[in-house]
Amino acid sequence: MEKNLNGTEPWWKRSVVYQIYPRSFMDSNGDGIGDLQGIISKLDYLCKLGIDVIWLSPIYDSPNDDNGYDIRDYRAIMREFGTMADFERLIKEAKYRGIRIVMDLVVNHTSDEHSWFIESRKSTSSKYRDFYIWREGKDGAPPNNWGSIFSGSAWERDEKTGSYYLHLFSKKQPDLNWEHQPLRKEIYEMMTFWLDKGIGGFRMDVINFISKDVRFPDGAVHPEQVFADGSAYFMNGPKIHTYLREMNEAVLQNYDVLTVGEMPGATPEDAQIYTNPENRELNMVFTFEHMDLDRGPYEKWDIQPLQLVDLKKNLEKWQQALHHKGWNSLYWNNHDQPRVVSRFGDEREYREQSAKMLAICLHMLQGTPYIYQGEELGMTNVKFASIEDYQDIETINMYKEKREQGIPHEKIMESIYAKGRDNARTPMQWTPDGGFTTGVPWMQMNNNVNEINAESALANPDSIFYTYQKLIKLRKSHDIITYGSFQLLLSEHPYLFVYKRVLESEEWLVVANFSKRSEKLVWSDCDVEGKNGQVVIANYEHLEVNKKALEVRPYEAFVLSFQREKNSPCHF
Ligand code: NOJ
Repeated sequence: MEKNLNGTEPWWKRSVVYQIYPRSFMDSNGDGIGDLQGIISKLDYLCKLGIDVIWLSPIYDSPNDDNGYDIRDYRAIMREFGTMADFERLIKEAKYRGIRIVMDLVVNHTSDEHSWFIESRKSTSSKYRDFYIWREGKDGAPPNNWGSIFSGSAWERDEKTGSYYLHLFSKKQPDLNWEHQPLRKEIYEMMTFWLDKGIGGFRMDVINFISKDVRFPDGAVHPEQVFADGSAYFMNGPKIHTYLREMNEAVLQNYDVLTVGEMPGATPEDAQIYTNPENRELNMVFTFEHMDLDRGPYEKWDIQPLQLVDLKKNLEKWQQALHHKGWNSLYWNNHDQPRVVSRFGDEREYREQSAKMLAICLHMLQGTPYIYQGEELGMTNVKFASIEDYQDIETINMYKEKREQGIPHEKIMESIYAKGRDNARTPMQWTPDGGFTTGVPWMQMNNNVNEINAESALANPDSIFYTYQKLIKLRKSHDIITYGSFQLLLSEHPYLFVYKRVLESEEWLVVANFSKRSEKLVWSDCDVEGKNGQVVIANYEHLEVNKKALEVRPYEAFVLSFQREKNSPCHF
């Protein structure tokens, strides 16, 4: 068993996290916007699924330029979502069901309506001036050529003092200045405020962006791009480890909580540093590497087909790098990514099979799995006809920018259909007629709700929901899932993802077909020929395990367990 520094097994290693995007989860008062009482009303559903932790996307007071990732007041609840009393009740009701609540910690930036920023922009001598990153322009232009992740320049000139402030995201999300100690102190106190309410930890928004190269050098401008990619100067920046260790010492070490850092651009080597318990930084990170395999070199909107071999090799790299050295978080979906069944599976004929296959393939890896709301139902992407139907600031800004560059509407919409964040943000599909709200939902519901919804899933013992439920149960009763080593097999096979997990005398073989074709699997290639395998979980019935080879059916996935022979050489 891998123990913590204090000798105990960390609870979050065996946990499964369920992410809620509160705006779209469940509306209790008919205003069309999901809320905390709505979440409370669905705790029994989550309990039935079996999850241990809920990660709540931001519920703080916000003007909602970026749906809560622009915080106006770190210590208040967003009005549409309810009150502090509702939040405290949520913690209590969740705890009663054995579920912990992890909050989103968004401290790379605030809203421009946060009182710190209102004060900061008033004058160069404001007490809060250094809470943000202010620089003078260069010859009437911004201080450098960096682009914002949400289009346009990353700098905005402010009328009052004539200086520019940095905003890596929208201009209503000014970046905080972590160089300034009083700001850090405020953040740590705010974290303590929430931890003392009994929350179970933090998911830290773009936390590896908080330390910038304060020289703010120009970045290289790629062909076809107007602004530079400045990420080399703010991702995993010079003081990031110092800040995270300071945060740990000031706050986190005093609580037994889960911490996961959202870290675009983090490599397995970076993750080893961030998540090695001896470094006292974070428990785990969200990598983006596997999410970036179906995009072009400069932007996510450039769609490329996924090559399974790349995905396998990437996941293998992470599995190997963090085994005994740190910890992985496992995910296919979140509120920023398109729905995985539409992306890496088949949203039509094989929707059920491919959703289950993806679940089995991910949940058998080493790490803490994250399920994003609706993933357990196999919810799919949406195709709204007009840009007016979209709500996401990133999507809308990109659309405007590309239209100005003369790119045709249809071409841009293709990218939005494949990659837009609203794919994940349509309201949760509870019943055949919606069930999310009695009013008008803030964003259109996916029009396949009649077919795909929780009510139907719960009534069908063969549904995707129950595959997730079973995977969660397996994790609780089989140490091999949490602690076993990982070995990739058939690494060059273009359609089959095959790997082994091994713990002491036990060996599990995981087979997943990522295609619509049947694929031949020869048992001797998996080093299990003639051994007596037991089916642990499968997404098709009647698995023939006694022959020399097997036709793995479209999107089929299964796990077989074997007892290793006492004297067999250890391959791992
Ligand atoms: C990452 C979050 O996941 C995303 O939704 C948000 O827009 C940006 N960070 C900015 O906070």
